Order: sequence, then C-alpha cells, then structure tokens
Amino acid sequence: MDSLLITGGNRLKGTISVNGSKNAALPIMAASILTEGETVLKGVPQLEDIRHLSALLEKLGVNVSRDEKGGLHLKVEDEMNCHAEYELVRKMRASVCVMGPLLAKRRRAQVSLPGGCNIGDRPVDLHIQGFQCLGAESDLVGGDIHLKAKKLKGTEMFLGGPFGSTVLGTANVLMAATLAEGTTVIESAACEPEVIDLANYLNACGARIVGQGTPRITVEGVKELHGCEHTVIPDRIEAGTFMMAAAITNGDVIINNCRLDHLMAVVDRLRAVGVNVERKGDGVQVSSSRRLEPVSVTTQPYPGFPTDLQAQIMALLCLADGNSIITEKIFPDRFVHVAELNRMGARLRKEGPTVIVEGVKNLVGAPVMASDLRASAALVVAGLVAKGKTKVSRVYHIDRGYERIEQRLATLGAEIQRVPE
Ligand code: EPU
Repeated sequence: MDSLLITGGNRLKGTISVNGSKNAALPIMAASILTEGETVLKGVPQLEDIRHLSALLEKLGVNVSRDEKGGLHLKVEDEMNCHAEYELVRKMRASVCVMGPLLAKRRRAQVSLPGGCNIGDRPVDLHIQGFQCLGAESDLVGGDIHLKAKKLKGTEMFLGGPFGSTVLGTANVLMAATLAEGTTVIESAACEPEVIDLANYLNACGARIVGQGTPRITVEGVKELHGCEHTVIPDRIEAGTFMMAAAITNGDVIINNCRLDHLMAVVDRLRAVGVNVERKGDGVQVSSSRRLEPVSVTTQPYPGFPTDLQAQIMALLCLADGNSIITEKIFPDRFVHVAELNRMGARLRKEGPTVIVEGVKNLVGAPVMASDLRASAALVVAGLVAKGKTKVSRVYHIDRGYERIEQRLATLGAEIQRVPE
C-alpha cells in the first residue's frame, strides 16, 4: 500500500485543471445497461472506482474499453448475468447503481447488499422502496437483494428519507423509470448536478425526463434507449478540494474546467473565511493572503454545502483565528479524519454530529492514516501547510477519487511524493 509523503509550507501557485466527475460518471456507466447501442463517455477520470465499476459491468455483459483519446466505450453484448457479487460491491458501494438498469432492462437483478462503510450506515431502503413503487418484487437472500418484475409501471412516489433526498437512490429509480410503462413522478428527488448529468445522458439516449435539478423529476417511459456520446460534468468535489488546498497554503491558483455554479455554497463559506474566489473564464481563481476567519458550516443536500467537502474545509478551519463549528447533516458519523487531524496538532472536539474547531497557529506533520476517500484528501490538504513531514498512508482511498493527486499538486509547487510500501 503506497503512502504520500508531504513536506508542508509551500504556497501553491499556478494553474490546475479539474477532471470529469467520478460521481457523475459512475451512474452513467451503469445506465449504459439500459441501452441498445454504444455509449461513448468523454472526460471519465482514470480512477480506482471507475475501474471497479468497469470490472462489474464486464461481468454483467457490458464491453468496456478506452480509446486512445481516453473516451470510455460501453456496449452491452450479453444480457444473461444479472448478479452483482459481494466481491465487487464490497469494494465500491456505488455498484448498487446497477440495480435500476438491470431491473428495467433485464427484469431481474441480484445485487449484494453493501454493508456500512467508514462514513457510517449506508442503507438502500429508499432505492428498494422506489423499485417497489414501480411494481418490482424484492427479497433479501443471503445478503443479496433480489429484484424482479414482469413489467415496471410508472407511478407517483416520494423518495425522501430521514436525511433528505438520496443521490444514488434517485439515480437508480430514475434509470428504472426510463423504460417503465407510463409516467413516473419522483418527489423529493436529489437535485445534485450528478443527477442532472445522468438525466441529460439518458435524454440523449432517447429517454423523456424533465425536472432534473429540481425536487420533482417526471419520467415518461419509452420502449427502448439507444447509445450516445456524452461528456461528463467537471468534478465539483475535486475542484472544491483544490480550492481548500489553495486557501490553506495562502496560495494563488487558477482552477480550470470548474463549474462555479455547482459550488456556490462552498464559495460562500470560503469567502466568509476570507478567501478570494473569482470567476476566470471556464474556471476560477482562488487566492488567500490574509488571516482566516472562523465560520459555521453545515452540510446539506445540494445546493447546500456538500458532505464530500466537509473534511477538507475542516482542515482549513483548523488554522482559522477563532472557533468554527461544523455540523454534518448527511452522514452524522463521517468524522474519521477528526482524530487524525488532532494528531497533527488540530484542536477538534466532536459532539454528536458536530465538531468544534478551535483554531490553532500551526499544524505539525505526522504519520496519519485515513480510511475514507474525502478524509484522506483532508489529510493531504492539512499536510500541505503542516510544519515538517506528513506521511498519509493507505493512499488507495485517495486513488479511488483523485487521479494522480501527488503529480497534479506538485505542478502547483507542493512538495509531495508517492512512496511505495
Ligand atoms: N439514505 C437512506 N436510505 C437510502 C439511501 C440513503 O436513508 O436508501 C441516507 C444516507 O444514509 C444518507 C443520506 O440518505 O444519510 C444521503 O445519502 P445518499 O443516498 O444521497 O448517498 P449516496 O447516493 O450513497 C452519493 C455519493 C457520495 C456522497 C453522497 C451525498 C456517489 C457514488 N456517492 O452517495 O459520495 O457523499 O451521495 O452527497 O455518488 C464520495 O464521493 O466520497 C462519496 C461518499
């Protein structure tokens, strides 16, 4: 397992480009199961999670290949296998997004139930509830969800849960509804840009979806979907992570291929902290040269502050001049980074779903380890400014969501290298 060795203290300066969104690409790749023709996806990053889903799709009869320009080609060749096994689902929870497409296209799905993970419980009850509303039968046997339906029928449904809307649940039900008979209305649908991108892809394949990006999505079922060429949206979480990295190092960084309209809650909090964030063409310039103000941050479904940037802004607020309060409203246990940041000299106190961040003058390099993708990113962000050397182990978590992070940060002047173990 590789580690990242970071020597903190360098101001990040220069230009960096954001990759296509992992969380947009994953459900779109799964949606190719629904289609007859070939899908060509542009901008899909080279990440572990993408490789895991590609492997699962191959098992499910989808031919997946990359062309020389990086385009990802997906084409269904065999519809026999409908079983997503534990071995693959265990590696990546987003594998559950094959449920909706398998059910709609092949009328049956057997998908291993993902367990919890390091960010807390990850139930799929709302996904199943949505499928049942469409007329599917479901059963839990040996840890696998079995779904079947002679046909799916459009209906009105409410898909909100105790923590609000569900991103992959909305994606799953949306995908299933494209081939259902009649009209489906999903109330309390997730409004995340990744759901909009999925709906746009499906529409380009011949689906009839309106309302994506609002809490009410309406789907007019169609008989079949064809392939299409689609470019995935830029990764707003990667962009936000680079923003935090620029801010914490008092840097001056231009982040290209960045949809500022997808990041307004983040920009709002960064400006409140005292960071300059200005639009620059299709990108954004982030600079900071003054003290950091303490702020309150509450994670919420889109367009609120994303839970996937909670750990990274916590790293930044460790150095604010006063006490900040961070409340996690999506995954109340998503705090594995707290103890690790404290090892680097942070003063963080967790009280239920809230962390009180007492600002300190410096962070100090230390060997740290994180067992979640975004938590690991936060440790890298902290390492960039910490005095001395920080060794972040278990880098495979970062590799799940950030492509060659060390090489890209190094182009901005960070002293960071990968150390094989
Ligand atoms: N929830 C339920 N029942 C369900 C589904 C979800 O109660 O059936 C709850 C969850 O426990 C959570 C809340 O609803 O409290 C929201 O979870 P959601 O379903 O929206 O999460 P997800 O779709 O499984 C995606 C991203 C996550 C991101 C969340 C929230 C992908 C592949 N994953 O997960 O991304 O944190 O939405 O925005 O899109 C990451 O990239 O690091 C990551 C974890």
